[in-house]
Amino acid sequence: MKVLIAGGAGYIGSTIGSACLDAGITPVILDSLVTGRREFAAGRAFYEGDIADGPTVDRVFAEHPNIGAVIHCAALIVVPDSVADPVGYYRANVTKSLEFAAHLLRNGCQRLIFSSSAAIYASVDDLTVDEDSPVDPQSPYARTKAMCEAMLADIASAEPIRVLSLRYFNPIGADPKMRTGLQLPRPTHALGKMIEAHDDGVPFLVTGTDYPTRDGSGIRDYIHVWDLAAAHVQAFRRFDALPGPVTAINLGTGRGTTVWELVDAFNSVAGRPIEAHPAARRPGDIAGAYTRADRANRLLGWRTRCDITEGIRHSLQWAAIRDQVFV
Ligand SMILES: NC(=O)c1ccc[n+]([C@@H]2O[C@H](COP(=O)([O-])OP(=O)(O)OC[C@H]3O[C@@H](n4cnc5c(N)ncnc54)[C@H](O)[C@@H]3O)[C@@H](O)[C@H]2O)c1
Repeated sequence: MKVLIAGGAGYIGSTIGSACLDAGITPVILDSLVTGRREFAAGRAFYEGDIADGPTVDRVFAEHPNIGAVIHCAALIVVPDSVADPVGYYRANVTKSLEFAAHLLRNGCQRLIFSSSAAIYASVDDLTVDEDSPVDPQSPYARTKAMCEAMLADIASAEPIRVLSLRYFNPIGADPKMRTGLQLPRPTHALGKMIEAHDDGVPFLVTGTDYPTRDGSGIRDYIHVWDLAAAHVQAFRRFDALPGPVTAINLGTGRGTTVWELVDAFNSVAGRPIEAHPAARRPGDIAGAYTRADRANRLLGWRTRCDITEGIRHSLQWAAIRDQVFV
């Protein structure tokens, strides 16, 4: 059985591809390489093209008639860019997803797994959310994800396709076998900034220390990208047993980690500890949230296996070899 991974040359899509291969499922990759890497598709069936390009999608299905499901990871993902260029982001993430859905329907695709985000949830006082929590995305990027979910739900209620939206929390780490990892040299999330501080020998700034969390710093639900990938393998296997034409599932660990706690975890793994200093909040940042849901376990038979220190260790290992992987 094959699975088509749109955006399969990116960070998460390529890791899903590796997990599929390890599970005996053959990935077929469709990626425009707008942010993805050709190296991540090496040795895999790969179509360089846009999800909105009908003839390319038709060719993929004609050449791989046994595609059992499609995983749609293709998107632009940088929140500040989406604020600066909303037209570009709505076009890339919403318009192209709509075109892609039409191409999938034409080719008889009946199972679609959509990469959504926990960024669609409204902020809540107790810092936890489940799949029924109110949705109130706070950036154009997050709104593109909520719009795609709504659009795909309408399509699934009218057409012979079922849709599973997987709402990711905060992926960290890399493929434990170091086949793939983050392609960006300088990621802007907290762990990326810690690795930068570590490499450059400068202090790490804890931006925001007056949030309503246990120590005042922001809280996130850091999930190892390998656990995330494993959830997609389970979703592929269990797809037909999902309860309805449209399902949403949170993918997180169920544990919140504050930035100060992440610093401690980082220093327990890194050879050379980093110094951390409190600093002012960055505009647009939020206190954060973590999942309190067990739906992923119930419906997918999945739970996380990697702890946060493994995520940090694999991120550090990947950062050290990244430049050798990219030719
Ligand atoms: N990384 C995160 O923190 C995070 C969190 C929640 C959700 N997500 C979602 O997960 C998915 C994957 O994210 P990622 O971190 O791997 O990002 P990424 O940029 O590494 O991967 C996205 C991939 O999609 C490809 N792509 C983009 N537009 C395309 C198009 N029109 N046609 C074909 N290919 C296209 C890119 O070239 C890239 O390879 C995205 O949908 C994102 O919204 C990511």
